[in-house]
Amino acid sequence: MRVDAVTLFPGMIDAPLSESIVGRARQEGFLELGFSNPRDFTEDRHRTVDDKPYGGGTGMLMMAEPVYRALKAVRKKSSFVIILTPKGRRFDQPLALELAKKKHLVFICGHYEGIDERVTPLADLELSIGDYVLTGGEPAAVAVIDAVTRLIPGVLKKSDATVNETFTEGLLEAPHYTRPAVWRGKAVPQELVSGNHKLIAEWRRAQAEALTGKSRPDLAPAKRKPRGAAKK
Ligand code: ADE
Repeated sequence: MRVDAVTLFPGMIDAPLSESIVGRARQEGFLELGFSNPRDFTEDRHRTVDDKPYGGGTGMLMMAEPVYRALKAVRKKSSFVIILTPKGRRFDQPLALELAKKKHLVFICGHYEGIDERVTPLADLELSIGDYVLTGGEPAAVAVIDAVTRLIPGVLKKSDATVNETFTEGLLEAPHYTRPAVWRGKAVPQELVSGNHKLIAEWRRAQAEALTGKSRPDLAPAKRKPRGAAKK
């Protein structure tokens, strides 16, 4: 997969995505990550990328033209273009699975108070990572690229590593434990050391359901629409 980020601050994305699993995925060629900086597409002496909003208001806005040109430099026919904004659709695991099937993703990262609204129609999707306001789209792009990269076949060494995990089945994951079997007086649940795979699976399912009901009742099975339910 190829990913390009249209950003004034490539280092905010490049550095965190150079470590650990995503860093290795880049080295091994599963993910090719590029950057297009609107500042490189300005023509004035000061390389201006922002200006005051019409109608007044605090802060500065990114101007449309440098963003447009930076996008044009990387956009291909097969590109899926995403603008990161707190006003967008909320990112979640099903969407990560969808995005992992794309050939080329382009993320447009707003900074300052955002981007001139006339840029919005250039994107296929406006995307938010949650109901809070970041200093820019870059940390959001990092989160989305991370979640998508680990779903690219081959990136995680165990082929089934993403099947039973949190959110994939609409449930939070059961708790995990590793050695020692007793740590500071706390023992690992006996089901997990029983060696009985059926018992372990049942225990995990029950834990996942209980945890989801407690921490995320909005995800709990009773609240979810049955799959394939007829639309009203
Ligand atoms: N830019 C600023 N805040 C954001 C958020 N919550 N999600 C995506 N992009 C953003």
